[in-house]
Amino acid sequence: AASPLTDRFGRHHTYLRISLTERCNLRCDYCMPAEGVPLQPKSQLLSTEEVLRLARIFVEQGVRKIRLTGGEPTVRRDIVEVVAQLKALPQLEHVGITTNGLVLTRLLVPLQRAGLDSLNISLDTLRKERFEQITRRKGWERVIAGIDLAIQLGYRPKINCVLMRKFNEDEICDFVEFTRERPVDVRFIEYMPFSGNKWQTERLISYSETVQTIRQRWPEFQALPNGPNDTSKAYAVPGFAGQLGFITSMTEHFCGTCNRLRLTADGNIKVCLFGNKEFSLRDAMRSEGCTEQQLVELIGAAVQRKKRQHAGMLNLSQMENRPMILIGG
Ligand code: GTP
Ligand code: 5AD
Ligand code: SF4
Repeated sequence: AASPLTDRFGRHHTYLRISLTERCNLRCDYCMPAEGVPLQPKSQLLSTEEVLRLARIFVEQGVRKIRLTGGEPTVRRDIVEVVAQLKALPQLEHVGITTNGLVLTRLLVPLQRAGLDSLNISLDTLRKERFEQITRRKGWERVIAGIDLAIQLGYRPKINCVLMRKFNEDEICDFVEFTRERPVDVRFIEYMPFSGNKWQTERLISYSETVQTIRQRWPEFQALPNGPNDTSKAYAVPGFAGQLGFITSMTEHFCGTCNRLRLTADGNIKVCLFGNKEFSLRDAMRSEGCTEQQLVELIGAAVQRKKRQHAGMLNLSQMENRPMILIGG
């Protein structure tokens, strides 16, 4: 292949998702097993310098966009520093973050000053009591304040809403209403299976069902054009300030245009969200005399092992994988 980041199917990987931590200040039950996950000692996680070293190597090989995830990336103390240092890489065009939004009222101004290009905020319900039920923590008002602040600061945040039967299916139209006056993109995400998250087909609310629900109320609801590597299918109600989107990983996968690689907080390269073969770049990097060229070769070998597409909904629900909190989406 021309580039170590091009796989057997000709997909060129220009987007890296870096998980900065295994911790989170919420406890969402679709993301984390009820008993929590055993936390690794800090020494097993990548240091600031290691994150930046690997990021620089990926950028030299062609990565143009980096998204910081977790766990919850803002619980990592060096988050602002990491953004600033990434933004110092001239070839890197975009640095984004995916966050639960809890501490944005404190951190977003420093993050923006560090150069943060965009942010995606998770919010599964517009009702405070439900938020506390699903996240097992308080903080709904702070997330809403974080979204408002992001808009004030000139961002157009994406709001990630995982739809689940008998939890928030009755809020679909409320989320559409949410885009009437606000310049945000609300994205409905199909519930996906991960280790320990009690996924069941019956709890999945599909893309087609959700579109039908919205069309009953807004017949003019319409599809819009998408970017070449978008995870979401864009839609809008004409005249509304914001847009909607659908992330259809389960019923209409988008693996054919996948351009993503992942780096876990403990330093593994993970070439697919649903790939369970990982390789430790941390161990390689920490072994004596490891050269940059060797790291590039390891990355290239991992990319070559990437499969054409994920294994399909029912296989995925049986497959071993990390719990979502240890992947970061
Ligand atoms: P952009 O970078 O803004 O395009 O965001 P994104 O949608 O890629 O990322 P985000 O972290 O906001 O994740 C939203 C949802 O998309 C989560 O449920 C992720 O698990 C899912 N997602 C992100 N990347 C992938 C991917 O490569 N494959 C699949 N199947 N789902 C993904
Ligand atoms: N299925 C779909 N999306 C999920 N997320 C977390 N767990 C799941 C799941 N089981 C979403 C979060 C966050 C994004 C990174 O992934 O809501 O917005
Ligand atoms: Fe890419 Fe894997 Fe997601 Fe498919 S499931 S889009 S191959 S990361």
